[in-house]
Amino acid sequence: TRTQDDESLPHATKRTMTDHLRRLETLFTLTPQRMRMITQSFRETLENGLEKVDQVVPMIPTFVFGWPSGQEQGDYLAIDLGGTNLRVCLVHLQGKGKFEVTQSKYRLSEEQKQDEGQKLFDFCAESLKTFIDSNSGEDGILHLEPGEKLPLGFTFSYPCKQNSIDHGILIRWTKGFGAPNTEGENVAEMFQKSLDKFELPVTLTALINDTTGTLIASHYVNPHTRIACIFGTGCNAAYMEHVKDIPKIKDLGIDGGMDMVINCEWGAFDSFEHEHLPRSKYDISIDESSNKPGEQAFEKLISGRYLGEILRLVICELIDDGILFLGQNTYKVEVTNALDTALLSLMESDPTEELLMIIGIFSHFFALETTLAERQFLRAIARLIGRRAARLSACGIGAIVGKMGYLENGCAVGCDGSLYNKYPGFAGRIQEGLVDIFGEKARNIYTHHCRRWIWPMTKARKDAGIHAHL
Ligand code: GLC
Repeated sequence: TRTQDDESLPHATKRTMTDHLRRLETLFTLTPQRMRMITQSFRETLENGLEKVDQVVPMIPTFVFGWPSGQEQGDYLAIDLGGTNLRVCLVHLQGKGKFEVTQSKYRLSEEQKQDEGQKLFDFCAESLKTFIDSNSGEDGILHLEPGEKLPLGFTFSYPCKQNSIDHGILIRWTKGFGAPNTEGENVAEMFQKSLDKFELPVTLTALINDTTGTLIASHYVNPHTRIACIFGTGCNAAYMEHVKDIPKIKDLGIDGGMDMVINCEWGAFDSFEHEHLPRSKYDISIDESSNKPGEQAFEKLISGRYLGEILRLVICELIDDGILFLGQNTYKVEVTNALDTALLSLMESDPTEELLMIIGIFSHFFALETTLAERQFLRAIARLIGRRAARLSACGIGAIVGKMGYLENGCAVGCDGSLYNKYPGFAGRIQEGLVDIFGEKARNIYTHHCRRWIWPMTKARKDAGIHAHL
């Protein structure tokens, strides 16, 4: 069979694979020098966003002030609308940086992402109702007195312009969402409408981005945290900034001595102009066929929504060129988005010499047989794509680290998202990338995983009077 007989492959085919690999290596590899250039322009972009309103990378003030003490306690409900799933959770903060989470997860369909915005919020409210109902009662974990309302936080992982913690105008949908009648609207108000419709015993107390949630949550468990990133369906970061260094909000009269979380929305870096990032023809093709061409340029090179598709486009080209899967019917792999990023990470982590996992993936999902040489080739391409994503991420982190001067004393970077949590070697490659940018000192900067669902402590802190400026 084709899986055994690499020896019998024509010599020319083998050579061509090597040639193609070399070409792809050049295309996807970022030299340290290039990374330093990207980091520098990234930093300038972040500084611009703090200075002026309506920038491509908006650097959104979140009205979340200062770090948690780690002693916050109590029960809080959180609902998290991400790029792929909706999660509802009850968070039990125990103090001393410890917490417990009970959660339910619902997958969002592609239709729901394009349907009326209000319907999407109705679905969130309905799921919350199911969660509350099924966890209430004698044996449940929720014990509500008649008339009692639970504080609810809404993690809404899209760029929102905020003027308080419980308000947010959706600037634009990202990650393939397109629900009409939502952009430009106050999504907190829309969600409140849905909550009222289902008569839920909750009060919406905060609307925050997932990066903000991760930042606060990560600091709760690791006080060295200064930055947080999401590497999931989307890609973004938040960090704690000095209010005095956010010139665009100086008219608000907030005490300059305070610190406030900034949601960078860095996925938008280099959008429209495409001056700084190394976009290959595959990236350009993904961008052009997306529902938002030109936008989220940085995110499109990094996040889980796109990496599998980049590999698929490379594969399709190699099929067209007669390099891969000669003589086989390849229609299944030629379908847009047929190759999930999860498969990319599986391909990379195949521990067997024969690359049996890759055999399984290609036969199961695409009805294709692979030779060992093809599998090694495919894995090498997957590595190039994954490595580029991690090294670009390092440039973003490097921009914040450089701007805030964290290199000398080091800091922790709290991370969450499927790519970070499940992609083998992703964290190590970020670290390697940081060393390429800054040298050995970068070893003081380390990423750590943290679940983001404990952000409702912002409410606990509000109760404690910490949110003086809301
Ligand atoms: C997208 C969203 C951003 C979010 C990120 C990660 O970039 O615009 O708000 O934080 O995805 O989920």
